[in-house]
Amino acid sequence: MSEYVLLLHKERKFLVRRGVVNTHVGRVDISNAKIGEKVSAGGEEFVVVEPTITDLLEKCRRGAQIIMPKDAAQIVAVTGVGRGWRCLDGGSGSGFLAIFLGHIVGSEGKVYTYEKRKEFYEKARKNISMCGMDGIVEIKNEDMGNFDEEGLDMVTFDLKGAENLVGRAFEHLKSGGWLVVYSPHIEQQIKVRSEMEKSGFSHIKMVENIQREWKSVAGYTHPFPRGIMHTGFLTFGRKIA
Ligand SMILES: C[S@@+](CC[C@H](N)C(=O)[O-])C[C@H]1O[C@@H](n2cnc3c(N)ncnc32)[C@H](O)[C@@H]1O
Repeated sequence: MSEYVLLLHKERKFLVRRGVVNTHVGRVDISNAKIGEKVSAGGEEFVVVEPTITDLLEKCRRGAQIIMPKDAAQIVAVTGVGRGWRCLDGGSGSGFLAIFLGHIVGSEGKVYTYEKRKEFYEKARKNISMCGMDGIVEIKNEDMGNFDEEGLDMVTFDLKGAENLVGRAFEHLKSGGWLVVYSPHIEQQIKVRSEMEKSGFSHIKMVENIQREWKSVAGYTHPFPRGIMHTGFLTFGRKIA
């Protein structure tokens, strides 16, 4: 469980620890407020709620480029990852994907994540704790090449040279388990796909997931003219053997 609560206003939200909280309209003491309780500051109404994993992830510190929610959600949609799954992830980066998956597999499952750089490892470790994922997400300050977890339901790679780890991922997955590789560049994706084919993965597919948000101004509605278009290619493969 995270130690944070969410103070929700009609236009803003504040992820805070209990105590006296500064909002955009004034201070409010939520030391003893119950979940669901309405409080007021500066004449405006707020409600105290439990933060979701999305609220918590928005507050996490970022170092390396994260896997965005649209891509993390696509991983869930294609693989069907669920409660109790044992997953391996690397590199951890800021820990976003590992935390997102940890929230899904829950306390009956496990996410092992590897990060070789000490500064990113420290950042991700703090993010994991902030999101209440200690005990579910286990982070190791080690090279991904050292992983030894067996009988995995899913392996996710978001690191340079992922193609060199595809064969080992195959060996460490359960039958029916999934490998998912996130590649920012198509040249990387091509190498990954080729290694997946050589290693014996089946049901291989590649997805680029583009999301467009629309906005409505004074009754006229259109897509935002700017936004994130390309993030990365997701390559999926399933172990049948
Ligand atoms: C793009 S980031 C991963 C972001 C992460 N998926 C997230 O959602 O926050 C890539 C990370 O992989 C780490 N990395 C690269 N090669 C590695 C290796 N061989 N072993 C462990 N970590 C590695 C890098 O230091 C970097 O932090």
